[in-house]
Amino acid sequence: MAIITNYRARSDAVPLRSFPATGRPSAIAGVGVYAPDKVISNLDLEKMMDTSDKWITERTGIHRRHIAEPGTTTFEMATRAARSALDAAGIQAKDLDMILVGTSSPDGPFPSIACRVQNELDAPGSVAWDTLAACTSFIYTLSIADSFIATERADTVLVIGAEVLSRMLDYSDRGTAVIFGDGAGAAVVKAAPKGAGFLSWCLGSDGRGYAQVTCGNIEKGAYAAKDPAPYIEMVGPDVFKFAVDIFIRQATEVCQAAGVALEEIDLWVPHQANFRIIDAAARRIGLPIERVAINIDEYGNTSSASIPLALEQAIREGRVNRGDHVLLAGFGSGLTWGATLLRWA
Ligand code: ACO
Repeated sequence: MAIITNYRARSDAVPLRSFPATGRPSAIAGVGVYAPDKVISNLDLEKMMDTSDKWITERTGIHRRHIAEPGTTTFEMATRAARSALDAAGIQAKDLDMILVGTSSPDGPFPSIACRVQNELDAPGSVAWDTLAACTSFIYTLSIADSFIATERADTVLVIGAEVLSRMLDYSDRGTAVIFGDGAGAAVVKAAPKGAGFLSWCLGSDGRGYAQVTCGNIEKGAYAAKDPAPYIEMVGPDVFKFAVDIFIRQATEVCQAAGVALEEIDLWVPHQANFRIIDAAARRIGLPIERVAINIDEYGNTSSASIPLALEQAIREGRVNRGDHVLLAGFGSGLTWGATLLRWA
């Protein structure tokens, strides 16, 4: 059972931190993804637990999720997405200054996934580390890339989000087991011309909500508790309300910080946690659903991989054009949240 908590996550309980991008601009130069071939459909889940395709579809928008085969590691999936992003950007690994991985399901506490990707790509001149911030990991990590490029401490940064969440699921808990999936996405971030790329950021955390989404025995420590299979638990309805609220506030904040009107958003790429969360927030932001990138039906919630998976699909479908205002926004355990507004370069 999830930890009992009186805390009710409300994003307006904390002031948001938002700011325009400063210093040398940076932009996303290429995106790549990887998802395992194995797919588990809602009908498959019906045979494994007390659930239904109808419930999952209506309550979440999820039809399928991709699941890593036994033996497939987060590192392998991260590397595949990384190679694809390097190809898309026309960049060679030796030109990378940094390799940053966002993940909450690393293959072990250390070495980092980023160091193993660095080794595999043969990028010895880069600095590599992982960031752990649940579903906000990708946005936080993108913001690190932008900051290093802004201060001219790096020119080219590879940012990866990769997760094997299926191994953190309790398949007797229908409230979580139906939601999550596995996947990886990566983006090459490069110095950009003035006026292009990241325009503004909104980043935040509210640790008072730490018990809203957990994995393992966090009060004792998973290792101390000798917990052989820590699994994800969450207070779903509370997180749902928090998520809708924080999506709306973040969109408003990043647009204000960039001096761009909400109506000028051409594409919103939200963290894919639940279609109903995205739909409710889009309505209140005033964005028609045609201007939102949604692929939760295919992948479920892949945490740090979900934004690059949805962004890559939108690019492939020709939905992202030079000069477009693109909003990326996430939230997750911690509680954490992050958003950025880009003018596509
Ligand atoms: N199949 C059938 N019935 C189910 C299922 C299921 N898979 N799951 C729950 N139910 C039942 C419940 O038992 C409950 O039944 P009851 O009324 O008889 O008690 C009923 O459905 C309603 O349950 P709720 O939990 O209130 O359902 P809700 O509509 O809130 O949907 C969900 C649950 C999908 C989890 C939703 O709350 C949600 O998406 N929350 C946000 C989660 C999220 O975004 N997490 C992101 C963080 S993840 C991270 O950071 C790693």
